[in-house]
Amino acid sequence: MFTKQTIRDIDLEGKTVLLRADYNVPLEKGKITDDYRIKQSLPTLHYLLAKNVRLIICSHVGRPEGPNDTSLSLFPIAKRLQQLLDKPVEFALDCVGKAAQKAVKNLQPGHVLLLENLRFHSEETDNDPKFARKLADLVGSDGVFVQDGFGVVHRAHASTDAITKYLHCVAGLLLEKEVDTITNAMEQPERPLAAIIGGAKIEDKIGVLSHFIEIADCVAIGGAMANTFLAAQGVDVEKSLYDKQSLNEARNILHKAAAETKKRTFTFAIPQDGVVATKTDKTSATRVVGFSSHILADTEHYPKRPPVSSGRLKAGEMILDIGPLSAEFIAGIIQLARTVIWNGTMGVTEISGLQGPIGPFAQGTQLLIEALLGDFGNKPFTVVGGGDTVGYLESRGLVKEFGHVSTGGGASLELMSGLPLPGVEALSDK
Ligand code: 3PG
Repeated sequence: MFTKQTIRDIDLEGKTVLLRADYNVPLEKGKITDDYRIKQSLPTLHYLLAKNVRLIICSHVGRPEGPNDTSLSLFPIAKRLQQLLDKPVEFALDCVGKAAQKAVKNLQPGHVLLLENLRFHSEETDNDPKFARKLADLVGSDGVFVQDGFGVVHRAHASTDAITKYLHCVAGLLLEKEVDTITNAMEQPERPLAAIIGGAKIEDKIGVLSHFIEIADCVAIGGAMANTFLAAQGVDVEKSLYDKQSLNEARNILHKAAAETKKRTFTFAIPQDGVVATKTDKTSATRVVGFSSHILADTEHYPKRPPVSSGRLKAGEMILDIGPLSAEFIAGIIQLARTVIWNGTMGVTEISGLQGPIGPFAQGTQLLIEALLGDFGNKPFTVVGGGDTVGYLESRGLVKEFGHVSTGGGASLELMSGLPLPGVEALSDK
């Protein structure tokens, strides 16, 4: 049960509220390509507006280098929010200082103001108390802070941690729902439990793998995360995205996984084959490369199957998707699972195809989705997370088909790993 106070537990009538949302949505040339996170915040916003609060919303988007990165302005998000709420949303050109103060002063009860990107100030990610104080001062000592940005509560930043020293802090409805659903699903999951982890934010996710090795019956790796494991096993991944800093950690995880297979029935799978190309383009010539001959020697737990085309990546090539054998293997794992944690796509899914929406590097993810949705017989309960993963499901109209589609990537993984989430810990207890 969620143990923190929520907006339902306090008197909000007519108050000024500062709400931290996670509107870190993908933007392409100022256009939002997936608004799932914005839509999921609406129940909290409607609840607050029904209490006639003066609603100030703050968020980050992306990882800007400084204040001049206009490609990461929240302005397009204000526009989208306005459409979704069907009421005006004011926009302040800065999240602190004169621009913000003036916009707050003009804000009427029942109205909404969105502040510019918090990360235009490095003090946000530095968890700077003075910056947090400036944010808190926007609502005054009588105001309330609502944390509803589930996707960002694994970060100890000024707007998730330091700010909680200055205001009465409660959770929004999205945060409560996410924490409750994920905690319940993890408390006594129906077994076998499989964790399928991919995506590009390698350094964020690699740390939680150790934990999944302890609790899951199977851990399968895909996406750019897999490239780091392949590199750690001596595969020359050429120009593929991987994390050099995490190679030792990847080796430790492989050892831990191998030790676990000796203790109990447990499978740790990294791809045996991959789809490679020299460009991430829908017209790229692709080929499938098998890695097995390079890695089978020290992965006795991995099933021995012949590689598609035993070989190496050529100069300039990148692994951009898991190959067909690996995708089939993961689909097989799903056939046996009762609960699946899926976080991160298996390849570069944001590129569509020449003939349709499924691009040349989305085949692995597509087969995985078909398996999760029961196309081969078994339909496990699935908790999905990760920005690109959810974006892909949204673009295919499939979100409703899954057990729980989280707005968090790293946050949901850390929660499932039992790690404390700073942005939740800091809220007032019930
Ligand atoms: C996310 O997309 O996972 C959250 O918004 C956090 O963003 P970050 O990884 O840049 O901190």
